[in-house]
Amino acid sequence: MKIVIATDHNGVEQKKIIINSLINEYEIIDMSQENYDTDDYPDFAINVAEYVRDNENTLGILLCGTGIGMSIAANKVKDIRCAHVSNLAEAKLARMHNNANIIAMSYRNNINDLIDCIKAFVKTNFANEERHIRRINKISEYEKR
Ligand code: RB5
Repeated sequence: MKIVIATDHNGVEQKKIIINSLINEYEIIDMSQENYDTDDYPDFAINVAEYVRDNENTLGILLCGTGIGMSIAANKVKDIRCAHVSNLAEAKLARMHNNANIIAMSYRNNINDLIDCIKAFVKTNFANEERHIRRINKISEYEKR
């Protein structure tokens, strides 16, 4: 499992702690190695989303002030299902029900909660039930139009 991660100028310290908590278990690709006060979240979100789209067995983690801008931008990339997540239940359900391939979160969450959500997200599998497949397929079909 490969994990690709990025933050905008918010969340730089949190991203480093998150990477350290995952590095022993996963291959981590840091797509925001340099941040500036004036950087823009869509640049990072789209880079991460394109990487996830183009690589198998890869999940994405995005941090910004709220996680909202990152999720909006990432979801513009075809085949990306980026879930804005703010608690553990949402992190698990994003995988189980939505087969999300990226989560976006606010860096303002408690760091231990962020790590717990991320670990739950990457360890949880898609439920692969007919009703969830059907719903995801409807989104994919719309995307093809
Ligand atoms: C940057 O100021 C801020 O807008 C960004 O981090 C994020 O919260 C956007 O949704």
